[in-house]
Amino acid sequence: MNYTNRRFLLNKRPLNMPTDDCWKLDEQQINSIINNEILIQVRYLSIDPYMRGRMNDGLSYAAPAKIGDPMTGETVGEVVESKSDLYKKGDIVCVHKGWQTYIKTKDTDPTIYKVPTSNIPMSAYLGVIGMPGRTAYFGLNRVGKPKKGETIVVSAASGAVGSVVGQLALMHGCKVIGIAGGPDKCKYVKDTLRFSDCIDYKSESFETELISSCSEGVDIYFENVGGPVTKAVVNLLNKNARVPICGFISQYNEKNMIEADTPFKILSKLKYKPKHRFFVVTEWMDEWANATKILSEYINNDQIRYEETIIDGFENAPEALRNVLTGKNFGKQIIKV
Ligand SMILES: NC(=O)c1ccc[n+]([C@@H]2O[C@H](COP(=O)([O-])OP(=O)(O)OC[C@H]3O[C@@H](n4cnc5c(N)ncnc54)[C@H](OP(=O)(O)O)[C@@H]3O)[C@@H](O)[C@H]2O)c1
Repeated sequence: MNYTNRRFLLNKRPLNMPTDDCWKLDEQQINSIINNEILIQVRYLSIDPYMRGRMNDGLSYAAPAKIGDPMTGETVGEVVESKSDLYKKGDIVCVHKGWQTYIKTKDTDPTIYKVPTSNIPMSAYLGVIGMPGRTAYFGLNRVGKPKKGETIVVSAASGAVGSVVGQLALMHGCKVIGIAGGPDKCKYVKDTLRFSDCIDYKSESFETELISSCSEGVDIYFENVGGPVTKAVVNLLNKNARVPICGFISQYNEKNMIEADTPFKILSKLKYKPKHRFFVVTEWMDEWANATKILSEYINNDQIRYEETIIDGFENAPEALRNVLTGKNFGKQIIKV
């Protein structure tokens, strides 16, 4: 056995947009595994906005990545060596063990799960039916609690989470207004994802278009971005509105979070505050498998459509993260290893 594992190790903490020197690409030889271990050859690496937060050394709901450790991330790949009764050679698994091309791990690692054999490509287990899809499912259903006839606004609407939130809300009988950056993304959200409307927040007429689209106000604002977008939407919130706070990507590179335009800060200044809370998808970890099953059925019934931006080459992971933080991605950002 002789495998070369390439790993991106966290090298330093960024002050703003992460530069290449924030990581060190290193090589590690793997020559053996012991009993109850497996070796996974990674096929796809997920690139997600939360990774930017893990590069900071601040207080958060999750521990920061350590300098010198592999950068935090989830992957899907094939078991190529096994001394385990739980996983055999050829099994396709997801595992959350960082930016690496081979993962040697104990078979009892709680982040591993077997990808069921299906017609859905394995990359989707990192996106629409993986963590982002489940985030949409639980954030909307358990925090947003949509009702038929309500108006919901979803920011980062063409993205991995937002695209699923909107399509699920359509199934609940809601009027769904997306917000996205640029005409191409807005066209995709309206024509392919079938949202009721989608407004370009980069356009000069953003606020007037948003007001005219939300003629009956906003009952749910599914928050993904923070900043100026949030400031515009909160003016339209109805009595009894709910704001599930999923993330606030526009502020992730800010040096001082106290000063940043987070949704918490923006909502705290409102006279009438909507019901709002930050949620994390791990709150419903024991129901993940069921959510993935439901979302898979929606895909097979064409009730959920999705887009992935797959970049070839492990070495491009840092650039892909920057793309997510600047909106160059279209749908779920993935690296093909
Ligand atoms: N709470 C949880 O458990 C959980 C789990 C997963 C994700 N999240 C959060 O969900 C949000 C969406 O994540 P995702 O994985 O679905 O990513 P994504 O939407 O696929 O990609 C990020 C998108 O954010 C938008 N964006 C970037 N900078 C922006 C800015 N300054 N203003 C407005 N929009 C901006 C870009 O779209 P445009 O081109 O349209 O601007 C970009 O494509 C993030 O905030 C993430 O942290 C939370």
